[in-house]
Amino acid sequence: MLNDLEQILITEEQLKDRVAELGKTLAEDYKGKEPLLLCILKGSSVFFADIARAMNIPLEMDFIAVSSYGAQTMSSGKIKMKKDIEQSIYGKDVLIIEDIIDTGYTLTYLKQLLLERNPASLKICTLLNKEARRVAPIKPDYVGFEIDDYFVVGYGLDYNEKYRNLPLIGVLKQEIYSE
Ligand code: IMP
Ligand code: MG
Repeated sequence: MLNDLEQILITEEQLKDRVAELGKTLAEDYKGKEPLLLCILKGSSVFFADIARAMNIPLEMDFIAVSSYGAQTMSSGKIKMKKDIEQSIYGKDVLIIEDIIDTGYTLTYLKQLLLERNPASLKICTLLNKEARRVAPIKPDYVGFEIDDYFVVGYGLDYNEKYRNLPLIGVLKQEIYSE
């Protein structure tokens, strides 16, 4: 898998350090609140498991799956709920855990949908933020790393369902897309 990468953008060590740091900040900010951490499948699964364990406070976990229709490396703006949460989020402090914000379509859709259910609060924590590509005006509350306009894989992020288990974040070689 490493052979398919043009460069390593974020190393395993850097991920570990930043996740530990973010986890501490989140634990401070949510102290006494027992937040509901929402994992957006499948991309944020790896980050989710690590960030939850880096937060040393009681919390709940739940999972949502959405799909966006479009080209493989581009979000289309048409988002569909594939798997909703079964519990009510009314009155809960909900923290969305996302892998990456690109155009912002996915989170704009999700945020609006979840806000209609009247949580006590709704915040967004994303591992990666690609600000340069933003179309929909969405602002994350917590960001692991700001990155430039690269298509990245690893640590949960995929290309054609591959590379999610890479322990680091890398940029795919151009030839992989054109195969
Ligand atoms: P958005 O709706 O354009 O913000 O896209 C968000 C979703 O697109 C993410 O949750 C990812 O699943 C996917 N995505 C966006 N950029 C990348 C990338 O560089 N690598 C892998 N997946 C990406
Ligand atoms: Mg995703």
